[in-house]
Order: sequence, then C-alpha cells, then structure tokens
Amino acid sequence: MSVASGWFEGLTPVPAKLEIATDEASFYLFSDFTYRVTGAGSSGATAAIQCFLGWCENVRSESVEARATLDETAVLEVECARPDAAAAGLENDESYKLAVDGNAGRVRISASQPVGVLRGLATLLHLSVLGAGSLRGCEIDDRPRFAWRGLMIDVSRHFMSISALERTLDAMALVKLNVLHLHLTDDQGFRLESRAFPKLHENGSAGEYYSQDEIRALVDFANARGIRIVPEFDLPGHASSWLAGYRQFGCSPESEYAVVETWGCVDVCVNPLVEELYEFLESFFADILPLFPDEFVHIGGDEVFGEEWRQTPAIAQHMSEHGMDAPDLQALFNGRVRSILARSGKRVVGWDEIAHPDMPTDAVVQSWRGAESVAAVTKQGYACIRSHGYYLNALLPAAEHYAVDPCPAGLDDEAAALVLGGEACMWTEFVDENNLDSRVWPRAAVIAERFWSPRSKCDESTLTVRLFAAQELLRRFGVSRNGKTDGKQMLGAVENAEMDGLAPERRDAVILSTATDRHTLLNRLADLLPAENFVAARLCELVKNRDHERIEQLLEDQGRRDDFVPWARVSDLDADLLFKRIRRVVDIGSHAVACHLGKRSCDEQWVDEALTELESCAEAVDGVVVAIAEPVMQLVRAPRGTRR
Ligand code: ACM
Repeated sequence: MSVASGWFEGLTPVPAKLEIATDEASFYLFSDFTYRVTGAGSSGATAAIQCFLGWCENVRSESVEARATLDETAVLEVECARPDAAAAGLENDESYKLAVDGNAGRVRISASQPVGVLRGLATLLHLSVLGAGSLRGCEIDDRPRFAWRGLMIDVSRHFMSISALERTLDAMALVKLNVLHLHLTDDQGFRLESRAFPKLHENGSAGEYYSQDEIRALVDFANARGIRIVPEFDLPGHASSWLAGYRQFGCSPESEYAVVETWGCVDVCVNPLVEELYEFLESFFADILPLFPDEFVHIGGDEVFGEEWRQTPAIAQHMSEHGMDAPDLQALFNGRVRSILARSGKRVVGWDEIAHPDMPTDAVVQSWRGAESVAAVTKQGYACIRSHGYYLNALLPAAEHYAVDPCPAGLDDEAAALVLGGEACMWTEFVDENNLDSRVWPRAAVIAERFWSPRSKCDESTLTVRLFAAQELLRRFGVSRNGKTDGKQMLGAVENAEMDGLAPERRDAVILSTATDRHTLLNRLADLLPAENFVAARLCELVKNRDHERIEQLLEDQGRRDDFVPWARVSDLDADLLFKRIRRVVDIGSHAVACHLGKRSCDEQWVDEALTELESCAEAVDGVVVAIAEPVMQLVRAPRGTRR
C-alpha cells in the first residue's frame, strides 16, 4: 500500500490553519542545519530543539549535524516569549506559528511557550517526512481544540517496561497527545513501588513494578515532551492487588486475598468503614505523591457492583441504618480520598461512577459509558474527559473512533465548555509489550487528530491518507509493528499476512468466555496482527467512494498474490482454510466490481449467494479474519453502477 505522496495532505493532526505557498520552491532541511533561538523562553525552546533533533535521527536512521548560531540566516529560527511552567499543566499554551519559506530555505517557528515550540517542531518533523526531507513553502497557525488529549495504558493486566512507555511517549508527542494516564493498579497487579507499604508491590506485582526512581525519570522524560503523567490508583473496587498485602482493609479480612490471574470482573472492594484505611491511604499518598507533579490524581472508581458490600453484615447494617445504597457508600469513600489529596493540593479525576451529589464539582469525570453520560455529568457541573468511543482494545477501525467527537451532539455551550478533551484507552488483557505498538498505533494518531484539530477540519472522507501517513511516520520512528520482535521470521510473516488482508478478530466481546489469563503467551498471528488491516481500510474507502476502477485494480493485485504464505508456516492456524477464503473473497469481489463496471451481469440470486458465502468467509479462524470480506460485502450490496 503506498503511503501518501503529497506534501501536505498526509499531515496529521490537521492544523487549525494552513496556507500553502503558490510557488513550488522547496529545499532540503538537513543539508546544513543551523538554528537560532530568541526570547525569554529560549532555554526551554533550545531543549525542545534537542528533542526534535533526537526525533530526526530516529526517523532518518542517521545523525543530524546541527549547529546553534546567532546568525540571522539560520535555517530554523525559533522565537519563544516565555518559559514553561515547571510541570506541564492544563493551562499550558501549546499554540504555535510555523512558516516555511521555500525560496529562502528557512523555517520560522514562534510560540509563547517552549511546549508550543515543541508542537511546532512535531509538525516540522512530519512535513519533512512527507517531503522525504524537503520542505515547501507554507504558513501554519495552529492551536489545540482541547487541553486534555490523553492515552491511557493499563499496565496492571500486562506490565509494560519503561522503554515501551518511553517509546509510547515519543509517539504521543509526534501526534501532539499530552497526557499519559497510567492505570497502575487493578485486580491483576499493583505496579508502583510503595516505600511506605512495600507489601503493595511485593505481594501485588510478581516482581513487575516501577521503582520510584524509574517513575521519577519517566515523569521527566514525559515533561520534556510536554506530556503530563496522570497516575491512577483504582479504588474502592478492583482492589485485589491492594489487599494481597493488606487484607485488613478488605471486606473479609480473615480471607486470603491474592492478585487475580484471569480476566473479567471480580467484585473485590476495600471496606470504606475501616477507619485505619484512611490513615493507610494518607501515608501511601504522602510517600508517592512527590513522584507525580501533575495537578491530577486518578482515583479510579469504576465497576463497584456493591454486592460484596451488601453481603458483608457490618457494611449492610451501616448502609441500612444510614439509608445508603452502594453508590452512596462509594461517594463517602471517594470524598475521604478527595480530602486527603486536596490537602496535598491535588484534584481528583475518576471514572463515571465518581459523579454523585456528595462529590464536589472540582473533580473531573472520565466518561467511559457513552454520550449520555458526558451529557449527564457536565449537566451536574463536572469537567469531563471522554473515553467512550476511544477504547483501542475493542479493535475497531480507525474511522469508527474518528467519527466520535469528545463533545456529543446536543450539549449546550455551558456543558460543552466543561469537556476538557478525551483519552484513548488501551486495556491490556490481550496486549503485552510485544504487540503494544501495533495495537495502539496508528489508530491512536487518528484519535489524537480528533482531540487536536478544529471540528470543521476533521475530514472523515480523507482520513485514510492521514492514517497511512501517521503509520509511515511512526514506523520510521521505530514504533514498529511489534515492539519486542519475535525475530525476523515472525515479523515478516505478520507483514505478509497484513498484505493478504488479514486482521485479528474483534475479541473484546468474548473476553469472559476466553480461557486466556496473564500466563498465556500473546504470540499467535492473531495477537501480532495490527488491529486495522490497511488493504481492507483502503478497499473500504474505495467502496464508499464508488471508485470501481481502483477497486478492480486492488482486487487484481490481491488475486495475484502468491499462494506461498509465510504466515502459514510460523503459526499453528488453519492456513489452508484462510487462504481459500481470501481467494474466494477476491473472486466474489472481482465479479461484483465487473458488474458495477457493466462487464458482467449479476442477478438477485447471485447477490444473495455471494453475501451468504462472504458471511462465512468473514468468520474467524484461530482468532484471525479475512478483513477484506467486510468491504467486499458492502461492494456486493451497493446499488449497481459507478459514480463518475
Ligand atoms: C472501565 O472501562 N471499567 C473504566
């Protein structure tokens, strides 16, 4: 699949304002790269340039000779009015202006803060990749639509190494995401060293946790990229890993608690009526809060079912005496935690379930339950970040995520002003370090555009050009299909299977019926294939545009692919069956496109039979599906004829 060849149409996220020079003069950015920095923010801006040069070296796989100069003829001139705050925050000004003079061979970036310079340099990097190192004249005036543009990674279900997180942070900066939300605790793992209560990480992590020194360095790494790290400590539910070391805070302190090794929800909560729990949390936070300079701490709060509380006699009695239901008891707990954090100057953010009449509206609600919930919590006066529609683990095509706006239709201006932005979420039951990259990227780049670019500039009809361009940028950067490769043979096999139009089955719906747990190796073809198949995405777009000549060409190319399939030899799936299905889908598609082009005829009966056959071709084989079956179904169903 060829990558966007144009100079500007692949640029993502789309800038707020872009004017392209009418002349076609261009120059090569890296032949003699000098830079000059001015303004009161120049030391932060110089650090941003160093970061940019590191990105350039990664992308180009060679060192970049760069020289600071006072000379006014510098290739890159950066003007930065004031320094950044000590830590990246919500009020950061990330706006920037970037002008490329193709004739003079000069680039000028101006921004009020170094973080804006960094955003401008990310744009410059992408422009240089799109132009194979060369730049053409343009003027960009850009700023984010939303202040909170996040990515959540669940490091509890599967632990991710610091180097995987650093790679993720760089990729985030390239597409202008600015919050890494680390889901540090859950039933399946407690991933942070607690010096105050070492049994938290010792009993809760099987040795896989971040030391405090590692986190401190990671926060600095993120801050240098204008990215905030928001840590999540999920309570009062999802508490198994807390209780593995400190069962006295559970509902049945006489039981043995242990980290959960399988997937799915368990109803394990702390007991909010144990007064010592709050002393414990006060000391816990006193130990770890100095690691996290961000204003916000995520307190989780999701999926508290209340059954365990109702089954615990002392808790049931308390609830009954005080006329409380489980959400009220949860609100009591959340209120205490909020007060502890407020004493350290922190604001809380939590999942939908923290919204309650007893929770003050200085809390931010992360909405995962739908547009209605965004509407409900903003009506109650909470600032909100939307995650519903952005769950990357659902393995949906990029276009489906892109179609979701953080501000649902129908919000009035007051409510819309409370939407701070959104977060893409990656829950990691089926994702480990080996397939993190290919499951997060490039789809998260498309979501990043939705969070950054003005609504009027988010064009769904041209999305695949930018999706492919983001993939190319990230691939060159080293955010590869598989972060930790299983060796060249497997990598080659995965690429080959992608070209054959294969993708992983959408598996989240069957989470509870799968037998996998945290010991299952995620090394099958189904685990390693990127979530979105590019051949299918391209075909989908062509079918939507009724571009039948190009569809014919694409299917011809697919039909010509060799039946020597490397992916068959390295994985234990029924490759013969899959390969027959690919062939059949291509044949049916070719017949259908010939009908659209008037070269063949096909009647209702053919359509019915073709659809039945395509349905069965679309069924999963060992977790793998023929992804092009879906767009071919749309092709078969479409009214005959070509739009010209
Ligand atoms: C969630 O998906 N339980 C926040």
